[in-house]
Amino acid sequence: MRERTLINCGWEYIPKWRDEFVQPGLSADGFVKVTIPHANKEISYNYFDERDYQFVSCYRRTIVYQASWAGKRVLADFDGVMAYAEVYLNGRLVGSHKGGYTPFSVDLTAGLQPGENLLVVKVDSTERPDIPPFGYTIDYLCYGGIYRDVYLRVVEPVFVENVFAKPKQVLNEKKGLETTVFVSNTTTEEHSFSVVVKLSKDGRLIAEGSRAAVAEPGKSRVDVVISNLSGIELWDVDNPHLYQVEVALQDSKGVQDTYTTRIGFREAVVRPDGFYLNGRKMMIRGLNRHQAFPYVGYAMPARVQRRDADILKYELGLNAVRTSHYPQSPHFLDRCDEIGLLVFEEIPGWQHIGDKDWQAVACENVREMIQRDWNHPSIFLWGVRINESQDCHDFYKETNRIARELDPTRQTAGVRYLEGSDFLEDVYTMNDFIHSGGQLILRDPKQVTKTKEYVPYIVTEFNGHMFPTKRFDQEERLIEHALRHLRVQNQAALDPHIAGAFGWCAFDYNTHYDFGSGDRICYHGVMDMFRIPKFAAHFYGSQIDPRIKPVLEPATRWTWGDRSIGGVLPLVIFTNCDKVRVRLNGHDVGEFYPSTARYPGVPYPPVIIDKLDLPKWRVQWFEGEFIGIVDGEEVIAKQFTPAPVPTKLVIEPDDLELKADGMDATRVVFKVVDQMGNILPYFTDAIEFQLEGPGTVIGPTKTALIGGAIATWVRTTADEGIIALKGATPTLESETVKIVVKQ
Ligand code: GAL
Repeated sequence: MRERTLINCGWEYIPKWRDEFVQPGLSADGFVKVTIPHANKEISYNYFDERDYQFVSCYRRTIVYQASWAGKRVLADFDGVMAYAEVYLNGRLVGSHKGGYTPFSVDLTAGLQPGENLLVVKVDSTERPDIPPFGYTIDYLCYGGIYRDVYLRVVEPVFVENVFAKPKQVLNEKKGLETTVFVSNTTTEEHSFSVVVKLSKDGRLIAEGSRAAVAEPGKSRVDVVISNLSGIELWDVDNPHLYQVEVALQDSKGVQDTYTTRIGFREAVVRPDGFYLNGRKMMIRGLNRHQAFPYVGYAMPARVQRRDADILKYELGLNAVRTSHYPQSPHFLDRCDEIGLLVFEEIPGWQHIGDKDWQAVACENVREMIQRDWNHPSIFLWGVRINESQDCHDFYKETNRIARELDPTRQTAGVRYLEGSDFLEDVYTMNDFIHSGGQLILRDPKQVTKTKEYVPYIVTEFNGHMFPTKRFDQEERLIEHALRHLRVQNQAALDPHIAGAFGWCAFDYNTHYDFGSGDRICYHGVMDMFRIPKFAAHFYGSQIDPRIKPVLEPATRWTWGDRSIGGVLPLVIFTNCDKVRVRLNGHDVGEFYPSTARYPGVPYPPVIIDKLDLPKWRVQWFEGEFIGIVDGEEVIAKQFTPAPVPTKLVIEPDDLELKADGMDATRVVFKVVDQMGNILPYFTDAIEFQLEGPGTVIGPTKTALIGGAIATWVRTTADEGIIALKGATPTLESETVKIVVKQ
């Protein structure tokens, strides 16, 4: 039976490469102990030199041979190494891989010897022009290192390499499941066995099917069809029902291998008149996500990846995400399946198409992405073009061909900014940046596609560089930033030929010097790099059903002089409440309703107050109170003080329990708030994180508050215990948070 063990611990690392590093018996001088996910170099929050992490490094680990491996295949599975890897076992090259976003496996079997074996990975994190997305400039960083999980897999000589389980007749009462099993026979003889497929939900067996097969040496595939499935619940964004598929290879000696995957029964299709999930028309409301974090770039563990999906779904109220511009962490995608967040996934690339060899790697990226992710019900679209590249007929004919051949169940798309571009995909996906604050919000899809008829069409980016906005910008800018997101989402929803829109983007991200604000940050997120919201996040967050979570976020600093000329009107309140009652200094001054007439496309338009009987500037400034009312009940309130002062340093951990595995991590947010609990948006004091116990702070322990708030990530060591963490500014100290660390 197969064993698959995480081998993230026990690695040694040195930030350079010499050919002799592959040899066993070398001294440990200069090597440091590290745990995967690992960033080859930690960078500062901004103003770093992106060449700092672009070098070749070495990771090594001992693999102790187990007697139980005799006669089996032993493989090392790498989920992601940026950007080129060579793997050596006991001094000999056993595999290599180009591309930092897709997984690869190396068969170690032939080179293993009894006792200790030395596994060495040469990691080239330079921007090699032979590997997508590199070759020209790109507006993001790819970072470096072995930044995703590594596993050791031990299987019988005949084993299941992959499984594609395709739900069929999804919208019928009786459904089907067609499972394609990819078998690898590493022996020199043919092998007879039966393939048994079991479908279950939460441990309860639902159906079983099997088929006798013979595997020739090499690779083969077997299809097992189960039909007449009844009582199956669909996967959708509200109730994402998941099912387990277990595939077993059985021969006269018993079960030789089992392979388990997870699926959902759903039909997702983009049509010229919109997006349909399980036959129901639904507006796609999404944002683009880069998988990057401060200091360590991509190297964040499962929990942190999963948390991002939760933020997108539960804090930002989205139903979809685009994994711009590459296949993202498997943990992130798993969570999208679990919570019902639709995913548009695409191959690595940004504007540039390289030569034939480069294109061959991109084609391989299409294969690797689809073969890794085809069972995720959340993924509804494969992006098979290099983001925003020029047309390239033969190349894109091939990427589409590969995608359709591997996965006939999903549509293809390819993100462009071109009008009338060569339309080889099923869905025309367009970065429509036309809105610059004026009347023009989105182009008519036919004007873009230049097709006679309307075709399936999604807006895959808008806003971004058109209006970079920092969380600590002036309130007018933050409001306009939010309104631009609102206007485009509203317009997309009103246009019957637009299936939805993904804004640029969810989180601010580090980038190259030639993009962003010159400090190596693109301030394009609706949240900052720490996932702390800007006003635009409140527009998205306010689209959640108030019965799930009432939201009331007045987009204001509540002060006279922050805006040009001054004042706080018009006052935009992002809310999902039926109405908002406003009080000044304790007196009701009116009730205000959502601006449905202005924004009929979005489920919950903001309340916009154009007139308010405000006191005269410099005579008096009032305390403000906003009360959200749903079904006649006061469900939420927010107060503002006229004279804020730093009152409390609030500490907010995402988790209070972590795993003692040396890699688990959680975010802890620190906010300096005023008397009413509102962040002081321009507070910049120093802050120190003080940690005791089995953990470390990722990034600096002494830094400055950025716009009154900041976060850090706390990473565990391999020891159990309690992490005690607090923050201190020169004048304030937070409470101490205790995080339990367990095996
Ligand atoms: C797009 C690009 C994105 C990002 C964005 C900024 O052109 O696809 O990656 O750079 O612009 O607005």
